[in-house]
This record gives sequence, structure tokens and C-alpha cells, in this order.
Amino acid sequence: MSLIMLKDIKMPQEFVTPPKLSAAELEKDSSLFDQACECIKAHKALLIAHYYTAPVIQRLAEATGGFIGDSLEMARVGKESPLSTILVAGVRFMGETAKILSPEKTILMPDLSAECSLDLCCKASELKRVKAEHPNATVVAYANTSAEVKALSDWIVTSSLAVELADYLKGRGEEILWLPDRHLGSYIANNAKTDVYCWPGRCIVHDSFEAAAIKKMKEQYPETKLLVHPESSAEVVALADCVGSTSQLLAFAKKDDAKSYIVATEHGIFYKMQQACPEKTFIEAAIGPRSGVKLEDAACPWMGLNSLSKLIECLESEGEARKSHEIHVPEDVRVAALKPLDRMLAFAAAIKSGNVPNNL
Ligand code: 13P
Ligand code: SF4
Repeated sequence: MSLIMLKDIKMPQEFVTPPKLSAAELEKDSSLFDQACECIKAHKALLIAHYYTAPVIQRLAEATGGFIGDSLEMARVGKESPLSTILVAGVRFMGETAKILSPEKTILMPDLSAECSLDLCCKASELKRVKAEHPNATVVAYANTSAEVKALSDWIVTSSLAVELADYLKGRGEEILWLPDRHLGSYIANNAKTDVYCWPGRCIVHDSFEAAAIKKMKEQYPETKLLVHPESSAEVVALADCVGSTSQLLAFAKKDDAKSYIVATEHGIFYKMQQACPEKTFIEAAIGPRSGVKLEDAACPWMGLNSLSKLIECLESEGEARKSHEIHVPEDVRVAALKPLDRMLAFAAAIKSGNVPNNL
């Protein structure tokens, strides 16, 4: 197997990220908790939050009968909900996925400028060009992409399914063009033992985890296990006791018998980890500077845009103001993107049932 990194891909060299809220701003925002609860109930909305959102947003989802999960579970829950207003607290591709799957529902987000660096690394125009250079490849796109990129892809996957899908495609003798995360691409190639043409994009948070510093942490706390999201570099993945999606890391922490863990993923996950395992200790993995952006800690700056004040503003918005909160996907793009997304959901269901047909 080998990883063939695609060359000459046009991508941003630097990422402009929104500023972090100060401690005082966060405290002020938290005081809106009861108002936000009332607002969600009054609008009969379902709040679906990603594990990386702030603890106060996750508490709000819990208090209002909403849902907290990884990106695959968010997609599934939004589609299956009987409610017609879905409020997605996460980043924009998560809202777009909800809209693609449920066009009849109103999909709202606190802040539509919640980007994802992976999404920013892969423009549809660039993918069209690369596809033309690899006409026989099966295009497998990570869920962290725009609706336009999804519409050009044969499959969508989330991190929880990526290796299984690569294995499946290898069994069918298909050549994989993977995008946009370089580290997840390398993880797939290594684990499914298959050739992967790989887009060189990166998540600014996971790319910042520093293998040498984490190795020192492991030496310092030898009893501690290391949990790693596969958007981290191969050097960090090689040190891990468990590699997986946010849900898979959480499930491992719950069933495993260690008392403490170093966690190499976005630190919003600590809320659910600590809640599920109150007796265990979770420590943030060390990060270092990377070209293009410098983070203070393992916090996704775009996830941080999901505040209670914006969430209330979003639900109460009307007319022009609604435009900066509601997700719209052009119908031709939506229909084209639905196909690979439905395939992903069918593949996930087949894996769960233990019977994966060869013709998905
Ligand atoms: P999950 O699919 O594990 O939820 O990850 C989404 C994401 O944005 C990781 O950075
Ligand atoms: Fe994107 Fe990384 Fe933020 Fe996840 S943590 S939403 S991959 S930038």
C-alpha cells in the first residue's frame, strides 16, 4: 500500500480564525441559559450539538431533550427527528449535511461563518480539476467538506467509518481519491493497506498535536493511556492506545479500566468524557505551533462561535436577519450530494448489522 500525496493543490496557506471569547464574555453568555432553554421550547426546535461545542451548549442540548454526538450521529438524528426546526451547533458543513438529508426542515445555525479548515482546503473547482486527472478513481470525501464538494463525490464518510469503507472499496478493486485530510488519508492507507491518492488538507486543531511533547507526557505519566483522533499526524497516531472518532474515543474511555488519559482531540469532548467517567482524569495532549495558525490550546475557533446569545438571536430572527442563520443548499447540488451521503448512511447501517452487500 502507499499514500500518494496530490501535488499542486491550491489551498489556503493561512487561516483567519475568529477571536476566542474572554472569560468575562463566556460568563455573561452563560447567564442566558434559562432564556435559551425557553426559546428552544417556544420554537419547538431540536438542538443537535457536536461534542466540540462549549460545555454550556452541550448542557443546553441535555436540558432541552436535544442531542450531542459525532458528525455521523448528528446527520442521522437530524434526519430521523419528527421536528421541523433543527438547530445545529457545530460548523457549517454539519448544518449543510442536515439540510441535504432533510430539505423539508428548517435548518438553523447560531453562526454561519463557523468554518472548518478542512472544508476551506478543498474547493469544488479544484476537485473538478483533480478528478479529471484521475478519471478511474473513486472519490471518497470526508464529511468535513462543502455541499458542492459532496456533490462531486462518490462516497462521503466520517472518521468513524473511513477505514472500513477503504477496506470495502479495496475489496471491490477500486482506486481511492481521498479528500481533504492528509492525516486521515494516511491513517486509512496504513490501516486498510490500500493505495490512496490523498488531498493535502489539514485540521488546524488536530495537526497541532505534537508527537515529541506527547511522548514526554507519556513518560511522565506512564499509567496514562493516549486517546487520538485520526485527524492527528501519523507520529501522534503511532503513540496512541486508542484511535477513533469522538464517539469512539468516548466509548473507549467508558469501558477501559485505566484511571487517566491524555486526549488528543478538541477539548470540548472533555465535558462528556468527564460526565461519563467522573472518577477518571483527562489531560489535554500537548500542542505546538504550526504554519498558518497558532492556537493557545486544542480549541476549534469556529466551534467556539456557537454561543447562547447567537443561538437565541438565531431562533428569534425573521426576514433579512434569518438569512445569516438559515442553511440553504441549491436543489441541484443537494440532489447530487444526497447520493453519496445516503450511501454513507446505508454503509453505516450495513456495518452495524454485520452484513455488507457488495453493491452499495
Ligand atoms: P467526528 O466525526 O469524530 O465527530 O469529527 C468531526 C470533526 O470535525 C473532527 O475534527
Ligand atoms: Fe474542522 Fe478541525 Fe474544527 Fe473539526 S476541529 S471542525 S476538523 S477545524
